[in-house]
Amino acid sequence: MRLPRSVETADVEGKRVLVRADLNVPLADGEVADDTRIRAAIPTLELLLARGAEAVTVCSHLGRPKTEEDHAKYSMLPVERRLHELVSDERLQVLENTRFHPGETKNDEAYARELADGNDLYVNDAFGSAHRAHSSTEAVAHLLPAYAGLLLLAELDHLGRLLGDVERPFVLISGGAKVDDKLAVLEHLGGRADRVLIGGKMAEEMREHNPLSYPVELPTDVIAASAFAEDAEARPASVDAVPDGWLGLDIGPETAQAFGAIIREARTIFWNGPMGVFEWSRFGDGTRAVAEAVADATAYSVVGGGDSVRAIQELGLAERISWVSTGGGASLELLEGRELPGVAAIPEG
Ligand code: 3PG
Ligand code: MG
Repeated sequence: MRLPRSVETADVEGKRVLVRADLNVPLADGEVADDTRIRAAIPTLELLLARGAEAVTVCSHLGRPKTEEDHAKYSMLPVERRLHELVSDERLQVLENTRFHPGETKNDEAYARELADGNDLYVNDAFGSAHRAHSSTEAVAHLLPAYAGLLLLAELDHLGRLLGDVERPFVLISGGAKVDDKLAVLEHLGGRADRVLIGGKMAEEMREHNPLSYPVELPTDVIAASAFAEDAEARPASVDAVPDGWLGLDIGPETAQAFGAIIREARTIFWNGPMGVFEWSRFGDGTRAVAEAVADATAYSVVGGGDSVRAIQELGLAERISWVSTGGGASLELLEGRELPGVAAIPEG
């Protein structure tokens, strides 16, 4: 894989540095609900400050604001507050949400010029947004000497290992709602795996028709529920004995055990997507069982994608996973074998 040049090679002393981070974090009641992505951005910021940068200006998008009314809801102020609690340095500044500017998502050069203005260097550390060709991730990289931040490089290194020679058995676990979103990664990466385990709603789609060029392993039982509701009547059922009109909202205990045994034997693991509606605890056992098996395995394990990462964090298992990616869509596109625009825009290292 082509690697972009590292911020570590940049001479930043006395320079004004624009940093694009992915500080697109969940908010609740106007406060940061999970600061994982803010913490992940810190090593690069601290490196720049320690090496004598005159100013470090951080920019990021937050959410998908559409109208002016969305501006209050998606303001970066809570993020800025949290970042300043974690790194208190007067040289560090946070810009308002890049997506408040209509040019951002169009990769508009005029907006990129506004961002670049007054800065000497650009550092992109926003792995989670590297699959977007936006002004703050792509166009601006052509206007200033551009470097990759430490998080961006670590993500490329860890995820990139899955694309190289891996220790076997290599087990890929995929779940979530739609096959479509995962098809390219399943074909590209799954085609190199020894076992591909499928859970979630997409397993039903795959049972009807497997669009891949290889066979996958599907659940043999599910937690069948009378309705899509947290308090629905529910019980384990074999996949061919789900009552008419009922839905499978999680993999069943037999499948959880079978998947767990395969995962524990693995030497390399990639997991993306929950096994069921895990945000409703009654339908979270399958996802929890998979998460625990991934943590137990003596494997090189990588978890990517918002929901599976959230499950890992909620269960306190992150320390036992080799790499928990800060990218959802970006990690999938990278593993599809595609070049990410935010990475391609930085000169090679
Ligand atoms: C993410 O959370 O997936 C990234 O921050 C990208 O956000 P986006 O999907 O709104 O571009
Ligand atoms: Mg996304």
